[in-house]
Amino acid sequence: MKIPFNRPYYTGREAHHMTRASLTGKLSGNGLYTKKCHELVEEKYGFKKVLLTHSCTGALEMAAILAGIEPGDEVIMPSFTFVSTANAFILRGARIIFADTGKEYPNIDIDNIKGLITDRTKAVVVVHYAGVACDMDSLMKLAGKYNFFVIEDAAHAIDSYYKNRPLGSLGHFGAFSFHETKNIISGEGGMLAINDDQFIKRAEIIWEKGTNRVAFSRGEVNKYGWIDIGSSFLPAEIISSFLYAQLENIDDIQQKRIKIWNTYFNMLKPLTSKGVLGFPKVPSYAHNNANMFFIITQNRKERDALLMHMKGKGILAVFHYIPLHSSEYYRDRHDGRDLPNTDHFSDCIVRLPFYTDLAEEDIAFVVQSVREFYTVR
Ligand SMILES: Cc1ncc(COP(=O)(O)O)c(C=O)c1O
Repeated sequence: MKIPFNRPYYTGREAHHMTRASLTGKLSGNGLYTKKCHELVEEKYGFKKVLLTHSCTGALEMAAILAGIEPGDEVIMPSFTFVSTANAFILRGARIIFADTGKEYPNIDIDNIKGLITDRTKAVVVVHYAGVACDMDSLMKLAGKYNFFVIEDAAHAIDSYYKNRPLGSLGHFGAFSFHETKNIISGEGGMLAINDDQFIKRAEIIWEKGTNRVAFSRGEVNKYGWIDIGSSFLPAEIISSFLYAQLENIDDIQQKRIKIWNTYFNMLKPLTSKGVLGFPKVPSYAHNNANMFFIITQNRKERDALLMHMKGKGILAVFHYIPLHSSEYYRDRHDGRDLPNTDHFSDCIVRLPFYTDLAEEDIAFVVQSVREFYTVR
């Protein structure tokens, strides 16, 4: 492919920090670089407590344990998401109740959630799709009224905001991804934000295989042992050191990505004002962290034709999630409700190539190819 969909971006500092990490004499987790990443993120965004994880999947699994999800509990979440959002709760025995997205933007529809709450509802998981915030005030009001946990799947949402408050800090827990397709990367990687003090101690225990090893490493206990359930959720120091190189350059990375996003937006705008092509409508309370750039076709046939056309030009554009409620694993467990907006976004979203060092001439070529598709037809 002439223009791939994604390409990992290197700040140039990764090798320096990875070498340093390898010379510290501690390669396992929770060493110098893990702490440096924690401090940097907590200070920059004001999170009460964060823990790096090996993936966002791991962070979601930790959140499910911390929320005390048990067999029979119901967890409401969008169907338009990645499997990990659901798997983390399925693994605890939850029943997943899939909600539809709104009509205008592929985020969960809060009004749809209202109709799904029962006395078994233990948690609601929201996904800030492409880093664009869900309607968090409305959701937190519902959470207070019906007493459920709110988990933010902030996989796409580092350095993004809801009414100037960082995403991932608004619910009880926030789960981030540093997978190589995200804004800030470490190959595989993730982070859990713990926004309620009462869960911090237990989070550290679950993170370290159900032991109090973190307290031991701080000198708070003189030996460590097994005191709860848990798993090995923490990344090795080599990964954290790579991540640190990215995090210390986050402002520069974000500036580059926002510039790319704006270039796409301005160049494609004429097509949307002619009604040929749809842009998502970003709500006024949401910030745009330039996680991805997507357009919306009229239907699936048009989407497939556009993707083929782009491929013919050497450009990899891609669709996104296949709805979970109709997946092979879940369709017989789903309660049968149609989720029309979910199906629409699944059929019609086209994600254009997007990476931090995407060159201007490549953006121009992508846009030219989209234009050609719509003028030749
Ligand atoms: C919404 C969402 N949640 C969770 C994940 C899982 O992230 P990770 O690959 O870091 O486990 C993804 C993956 O892209 C995602 O899109």
